[in-house]
Amino acid sequence: MQRSIAATEGIFAILDTPVTIQDAPDAKTLQSSQGRIDFENVTFRYAGTSIDALSHVTLKIEPGKSYALVGASGAGKSTILSLILRLYDPTSGAVRIDGNDLRGLTQQSLREQIGLVTQETFLFHDTIYNNIIFGRLDATREDIYRAAQMAYAHEFILAQPKKYDTTVGDKGMLLSGGQQQRLAIARAVLKNAPILLLDEATSALDSESEKQIQMALQTLAAGKTVVAIAHRLSTILSSDQIIVMENGRVKEIGTHAELLAQSGYYRRLYDLQFNRGAEHKDPEPEELFEVVS
Ligand SMILES: Nc1ncnc2c1ncn2[C@@H]1O[C@H](COP(=O)(O)OP(=O)(O)OP(=O)(O)O)[C@@H](O)[C@H]1O
Ligand SMILES: [Mg+2]
Repeated sequence: MQRSIAATEGIFAILDTPVTIQDAPDAKTLQSSQGRIDFENVTFRYAGTSIDALSHVTLKIEPGKSYALVGASGAGKSTILSLILRLYDPTSGAVRIDGNDLRGLTQQSLREQIGLVTQETFLFHDTIYNNIIFGRLDATREDIYRAAQMAYAHEFILAQPKKYDTTVGDKGMLLSGGQQQRLAIARAVLKNAPILLLDEATSALDSESEKQIQMALQTLAAGKTVVAIAHRLSTILSSDQIIVMENGRVKEIGTHAELLAQSGYYRRLYDLQFNRGAEHKDPEPEELFEVVS
């Protein structure tokens, strides 16, 4: 009794939390986005903290191009993705999509335009089929199979005891990390939103799984605006632009070759992580792009 009272109080405290992000009374519906995102002098501070997580960030994300966000832990990479999703509003400045301030759009129509693949895939205690259809509830069985095929998931699904009707267990624990990620990719393939946000896994998977995820992501990303928190060299190298963040600021932006030639902060990150001089002649593509400054 005592324990369930304590647990119930905890749940009610969450339910009673005031909602800070609300639709404006005259919020517009965003229809099929071109995938253009603009950060205009965005400064953002999390409630209850004393430093800005982002300061004066100005970014022009062009439709159909891919961007890799790199930088040390705490640099503000995840915060950028959270602001694109409008999980928070900027403290000052504006985030726009196709020229519309996010604060003037309905949250539902905004999020319908965004596919999200994160490190922590959220799978429900339900069948594989129902976990994929969550990406677009009106999808047909054929759509689900096609999405699973494009996500390189169809084969491992057919190898499960009840195929698409296999229950994945709480948070997908009956599947490997790589399989869970491919289900998340299948979900995003099904949703087919023009903007794709990707928070790449830092944990190393076996190289076969890694290769399949890489291929699945390539199929998914084709023709979309992609903003990826990139930890793998292959993702960084295949992006159109690399955005280097440091302490909440955009420090450098350019292609890999441009940034290396500038011999700046990016070069130091790259040398530290992938190009460690004579004893490591070939940078290992599986290595993580993670530097503690
Ligand atoms: N929910 C939160 N509440 C308060 N402060 C936060 C919150 N999330 C992040 N921060 C702070 O905001 C800053 C930017 O964090 P952010 O998560 O964007 O960094 P990151 O670049 O994604 O780092 P990592 O590579 O470790 O994921 C950090 O100083 C962090 O401590
Ligand atoms: Mg992060």
